[in-house]
Amino acid sequence: MADEAHAQPATSADPIDEIDRLRRDFEAEAEKLGDPAGLEELRARYLGRKRGRLTAVFDGLRQLPTDRRGAVGKAANLARRAIEARLEELETALATASTAAETRRLDVTLPGRRPETGSLHPITLTLQEIEGVFTRMGYKIVEGPEVEHDFYNFEALNIPRDHPARDIQDTLYLGGDWLLRTHTSPVQIRTMQAQQPPLAIIVPGRVYRRDTPDATHTPSFVQCEGLIVDRDITMADLKGTLDHFAKALLGAQTRTRLRPGYFPFTEPSAELDANAGSGWIEMLGCGMVHPAVFEAVGYDPQVWQGFAFGMGIDRIAALRYGIDDIRILYENDARFLQQFAA
Ligand code: PHE
Repeated sequence: MADEAHAQPATSADPIDEIDRLRRDFEAEAEKLGDPAGLEELRARYLGRKRGRLTAVFDGLRQLPTDRRGAVGKAANLARRAIEARLEELETALATASTAAETRRLDVTLPGRRPETGSLHPITLTLQEIEGVFTRMGYKIVEGPEVEHDFYNFEALNIPRDHPARDIQDTLYLGGDWLLRTHTSPVQIRTMQAQQPPLAIIVPGRVYRRDTPDATHTPSFVQCEGLIVDRDITMADLKGTLDHFAKALLGAQTRTRLRPGYFPFTEPSAELDANAGSGWIEMLGCGMVHPAVFEAVGYDPQVWQGFAFGMGIDRIAALRYGIDDIRILYENDARFLQQFAA
């Protein structure tokens, strides 16, 4: 046979030929490449440690006659660099293509996704409502410290140290005469010390008690206090004001009643119950400011009268929203809170 190729079949007799062939084969396969998995497959077929065709050429170098090794080695190295460069190029191209596909998948006709905006807490909503009712009647909003002195929390409110009423409000003491306020009433004293009558204030704020949590108690809760002082405030003013408040908050059909109660800083004292249609529920404590309280702040009880009231906002919120366990107000469970989104 005249054909040299047949006389010496391409059994990789000449490694240079094999290098040329594998480069052409590689290029043909690279042309058809479709995805990243195919790319790794391709890399393995040519450069893989075990079955790579070019790896086989490198492995065969040692069997070659010494004078051939240089030329074959050089060709093999060139091939490797070319293949590696091409693989890198393909990798970049595939990555760009997949990003482009991702972008195409954006369907602008779909409705937009609303960002989660959050909402006001039911206690905040209730407090805002209460503040609205009283500020419309001319009351000013005042705040006070949560870390309080015994004098303001008890002493000036006509609750001396040995007074049994101290047991009603289990107190968290901080050391010495400092404590976490058990009610917002100390702000009555602070305000009356700081300004002269007449005055009308409401005091929203957090209070603390050593209570074991249950459906109607939590060791920390939010109260709203009220105090009005003027020359001829009577129990009729208390009754009318609080009745208006209950109706504004729970609906015009709401009825109220006063039950005798006891607080050392009011005399007489009462509990206000409200009935908005589904039974009587205790809403707040109230009473006429005790003369001893006026004396503690230097107001003349012969000249000034007033009434005060205090309520737990969580109870009022529970009343408004039909919540049967106030602990849920403090658990920050988004599923519960979402119901109050505007
Ligand atoms: N401070 C009382 C309490 O925490 C409520 C109250 C305030 C009662 C003002 C009468 C007057 O229970």
